[in-house]
Amino acid sequence: MEQVKILFVCLGNICRSPMAEAIMNKHIADLGLSSNFRCDSAGTSNNHVGENPDNRTIVTCKKNNIPINHKARQINTSDYTKFDMLVAMDESNFIYLNKFAAKNMLPVSHIKMMREFDIDLKDINVADPWFGDLTDFDLCYETLNRNCELLLNNILENGHK
Ligand code: 4NP
Repeated sequence: MEQVKILFVCLGNICRSPMAEAIMNKHIADLGLSSNFRCDSAGTSNNHVGENPDNRTIVTCKKNNIPINHKARQINTSDYTKFDMLVAMDESNFIYLNKFAAKNMLPVSHIKMMREFDIDLKDINVADPWFGDLTDFDLCYETLNRNCELLLNNILENGHK
């Protein structure tokens, strides 16, 4: 199997997308498939570039035995060709990714929504926990954990094209 490269994208790259990257890496490692995948994350904004994940992201990952190690960075044009999939956490990230692509003549067919395969779909967005408390980060973890598993199973069954 050719290596599948997945980039998770949110606004600040300190809460949702680094958590998604870490959770996905854990699911991949648990299946013994680490060499078949490469996961990374990026933000649409440059507000937190170079920072570690938010402390509440780290606490929530620790609590769930998810190793997390990331420095925030902003999405750039080469991400569109380096990655097989750009996975947006919410509609505003999705719109940003499409507009940025249009402006820079980049492909858009691999831009996805994180909750595309969700079976518990009350909302297409992974809610931004930044203004919330640890309960909101717990909910974010549950949403991401369920959807990383769904996304990974879909890739393993149907490929990523
Ligand atoms: P994230 O959360 O997009 O999940 O990383 C946020 C982090 C920072 C800000 C907003 C959302 N901010 O406004 O600085």
